[in-house]
Amino acid sequence: MAALAKVDDDTFVPCLRAQKLARGIGKFLALTSRELDCLCLGALLHDIGKQDIPCEVLNKEDPLLPAEWDLIEQHPRRGWEYIQATELNDVVKEIILKHHIWFNGKGGYPCAETYGKPCF
Ligand SMILES: [Fe+2]
Repeated sequence: MAALAKVDDDTFVPCLRAQKLARGIGKFLALTSRELDCLCLGALLHDIGKQDIPCEVLNKEDPLLPAEWDLIEQHPRRGWEYIQATELNDVVKEIILKHHIWFNGKGGYPCAETYGKPCF
């Protein structure tokens, strides 16, 4: 939480909202208590990899340069790497890694070489 709160309010507040939405969706889907906890924790921490991205890039109002987009697209992998040293379970880690993969698996980022499985 502390690492996430350090990023900026434009990241932290949406993470709190994502957690709240995840809880509602998880309850609607009748997830077990453990599944719901994993979903909510993954939703809360999904952007933790943004802590390495400079605020000037995160808050830039002009179009991002290609190198800046590269930084943005690395944040799921960076977040996933960041939490490898924790005891969070694999479902939470997978949510963090894949939260920008399209629902149908046919697009998004990061891709196969990051975690050894094809995503699209
Ligand atoms: Fe993200």
